[in-house]
Amino acid sequence: MRMKDKVALISGAASGMGAATARLFAREGAKAVVVADILDGDGAVVVAEIEKAGGRASYVHLDVTDEAQWQQAVDHTMAAHGGLHVLVNNAGISGSAEQDLYDTAAWNRLMGINSTGVFLGMKYGIAAMRKTGQGGSVINLSSISGIVGQGYLHVGYNASKGAVRLITKAGAAQHGKEGIRVNSVHPGLMPPMRTSGRTADPVARAKTLKGVPMGRAGEVDEVAYAILFLASDESSYVTGTELVVDGGWTAV
Ligand SMILES: NC(=O)c1ccc[n+]([C@@H]2O[C@H](COP(=O)([O-])OP(=O)(O)OC[C@H]3O[C@@H](n4cnc5c(N)ncnc54)[C@H](O)[C@@H]3O)[C@@H](O)[C@H]2O)c1
Repeated sequence: MRMKDKVALISGAASGMGAATARLFAREGAKAVVVADILDGDGAVVVAEIEKAGGRASYVHLDVTDEAQWQQAVDHTMAAHGGLHVLVNNAGISGSAEQDLYDTAAWNRLMGINSTGVFLGMKYGIAAMRKTGQGGSVINLSSISGIVGQGYLHVGYNASKGAVRLITKAGAAQHGKEGIRVNSVHPGLMPPMRTSGRTADPVARAKTLKGVPMGRAGEVDEVAYAILFLASDESSYVTGTELVVDGGWTAV
């Protein structure tokens, strides 16, 4: 029970890696998992699945770009479950559906959700962890696109994920003495996001796979297990690091 006594809040948890992480935290004995998303119906399904399996969870509507909604999500977590120990800033959108890789509206959207969303999560989540008084772990979902560039994504995707990588290290530097650890996770080729465009195309994916030493895409649970390690006390001396989960893509 690697999440025993821990209350976790996960943004973007109605789908994909966020949902997989919510289910895994519950299976690992979390005291409670708060599923937060803009997709209320899908989020309710994740909560129902967790409860059916004997876990404890609740849903909160959260648009990560909205500061007031972050405050409400954190207030809900504290009131309903008595504290906050783990925050997973997972919500995000893809940059692979844009035709114009310098479209200004897309830049603002990508930076708003992928970067400002993480900043606001840290602002309100870390304040709640301080109140809880038991330290904490923040895990920010970046990407290999936060480490290297790609020719086929809107430049804002790389920029937004690069910002996540560095805000993570700033958070680690600022909150280490409070026992609050901050780390980033960098998935490689995974199942497409809901907002994926070109990267969902099977032909493009097959081409990308040629550059992945393990020769296959990752599965959502393979990222969820990396997040679990950083959330649990097993990683108690790990902060400010970047955990790459990419089948070796960026190693070559
Ligand atoms: N799938 C990949 O190939 C891949 C690779 C590397 C990194 N990532 C990152 O992993 C994270 C999870 O991606 P995924 O593959 O599970 O994608 P997904 O599209 O399945 O899930 C993303 C979730 O974020 C939610 N979301 C979007 N905008 C939101 C907002 N404004 N407020 C709250 N929630 C919002 C969506 O509703 C969705 O539930 C993202 O940050 C993504 O950038 C994904």
